[in-house]
Amino acid sequence: MPSHKYPSAPTPEQLGLVAPRQPGARRSGAELPKMKKFRFELLAAWIAETFKPCKVADVGGGKGMLSYLLDQDGFESTVIDPVSQPLPAKYRDPATGRLSKMPAGAVVRRIDRPYTPELGARYDLLVALHAHGVNQQIFDTVRQQGNSCVLLPCCVVGEPSAPPPGQNWFDWLAGYGRGLGLDVRYLHLNFSGQNVGAYVRAGRRSTSA
Ligand SMILES: C[S@@+](CC[C@H](N)C(=O)[O-])C[C@H]1O[C@@H](n2cnc3c(N)ncnc32)[C@H](O)[C@@H]1O
Repeated sequence: MPSHKYPSAPTPEQLGLVAPRQPGARRSGAELPKMKKFRFELLAAWIAETFKPCKVADVGGGKGMLSYLLDQDGFESTVIDPVSQPLPAKYRDPATGRLSKMPAGAVVRRIDRPYTPELGARYDLLVALHAHGVNQQIFDTVRQQGNSCVLLPCCVVGEPSAPPPGQNWFDWLAGYGRGLGLDVRYLHLNFSGQNVGAYVRAGRRSTSA
């Protein structure tokens, strides 16, 4: 089983997504990274700006917060995760910025099974936020099915193969996708933690301008 012992993912600066900061310059205001708990809101907003409403698989989606927010934005999102979990009791409403109670009876679609490429073929867009053991399979699916994906990989746990010791998992995974012939691009979101991602925008219904 591959271990966690790999160098950290590259920074947004190293990926060329933001201009390098001047030495000694401090971040302030909107430049300060938001806490990890905002990652669902930030990713849902990025997806809504980047893709048209479509059928989404929220692979390794845990409690389903990302799916809940995507459904609010007109997507049809389904969590695929072998561990069945209820939605959180509270969340930050992206419209108001306020901490809100999850409405009584709120649910998301779930398939409580491990991800497989056969499941992935049902969706236009495959999203994996810090999901375990699914990233290479998602690139494999995208190559076979021509759908789109957004991956923010955290660690190598459960993946079928792994980089050699000392090599960066994020770069290795992006290289794996490119080796399949995919047009892998980068994104970053302003939350603390592993906040860089790789995405492929393919020719099915999810593609936007
Ligand atoms: C670190 S958690 C991330 C959960 C959520 N996406 C988040 O950002 O909070 C990793 C998730 O991957 C799920 N997972 C593990 N193996 C999986 C598999 N084979 N297929 C789909 N999900 C899997 C786990 O059950 C867990 O919910």
